[in-house]
Amino acid sequence: MSLQEKVHQLFEDEFGETPAFIVRAPGRVNLIGEHTDYNDGFVFPMAIDRATWIALRPREDNKVFAISADLEDKQDFLLDNLVRPEKTRWIDYLIGTAWALQERGHKLSGWEGVVTGNVPIGAGLSSSASLEIATARAFHMVSEFEWDAAAMAKAGQSVENDWLGLKSGIMDQMISASGVENRALMIDCRSLDTITAPLPPETVIVIMDTGTRHTLVDSKYNERREQCEAAAEYFGVEKLRDVDIETFESRADGLDDLIRRRGRHVVYENDRVLKARDAMNAGDAKLMGQLMIQSHVSMRDDFEISSIALDTMVDCANVEDTCYGARMTGGGFAGCAVALVKADAVDEFVENVTQCYTSKTEHTPQVYISQASNGAETVYPQ
Ligand code: GLA
Repeated sequence: MSLQEKVHQLFEDEFGETPAFIVRAPGRVNLIGEHTDYNDGFVFPMAIDRATWIALRPREDNKVFAISADLEDKQDFLLDNLVRPEKTRWIDYLIGTAWALQERGHKLSGWEGVVTGNVPIGAGLSSSASLEIATARAFHMVSEFEWDAAAMAKAGQSVENDWLGLKSGIMDQMISASGVENRALMIDCRSLDTITAPLPPETVIVIMDTGTRHTLVDSKYNERREQCEAAAEYFGVEKLRDVDIETFESRADGLDDLIRRRGRHVVYENDRVLKARDAMNAGDAKLMGQLMIQSHVSMRDDFEISSIALDTMVDCANVEDTCYGARMTGGGFAGCAVALVKADAVDEFVENVTQCYTSKTEHTPQVYISQASNGAETVYPQ
């Protein structure tokens, strides 16, 4: 049974009728450009074929009543009484999204429905962004405001930044709102301009889940952001986006070692994304793979957001001849890595990497091909 069928069925079981709408918003895997988004730089994610789904119907009052099928929990809240959480629960993403949309002047109506999904939580595949954007889509269906992907992404980011206190960038919400089937999306995180690119011919994207999950990473994430801000301040610019490699190299000596390495990651990573755009446009899998490998080294040694599990997974992938390149993906510290792999050899790749990783760690990996999907959409009625 597909997730669409599942959420449809669950809605009928609970509410005794067909849902008025079914919406979905995907998670994402980032191919290259990590921790560059909040530096106003470039990222290159794709929306994946795993998503948060909501089946819903409008309500006459201003209440939202939502059931999490996966967590077996029911919660409700009133749109004129949104309470800020002390400890984040799943419903707080819905409450936060309502808050962020109202802050932007949208008049919201109530709804009730069932939420389910298959984006693993804490794996670096943006389950939270997919929940925020799916929620925004649900509100869009029952309220009177227009759907503008970039505006919805900003509202989703504001849930993290202003409602929940995580100073994350715009990438996850942008790709969840505006992903395109069979395409990766390069995003300029300053202008929010996007361009799409197909994967190089005869390649596939493989997600390699280390089976490790991040906990308590918020403080490390916010710390990285502060370090980037310190580097930008040293260079006298608003964001590290404004520092090119030449400027960096000519002046970086005056920075203390830690801030210099943090800054170096971001400055070179931005440059790698631009090179990745050219590689993708030229269908050059080899170059794309090399950039991914360089990106991982930079995250491991300079930005220090990898882990033993992630490094092991990436090494297991990179030894395979059929792998163009692999790197950790997302915020870091645990979760998933991503690889660009020859399509005709992918089964063997999956098997070998699984075996390699299992022999070297105590974790249970999940290695699978991922297709690029559309961003947020209403799938029912069609
Ligand atoms: C998390 C954040 C994003 C981005 C990545 C790292 O996924 O939510 O905004 O900063 O980490 O690239």
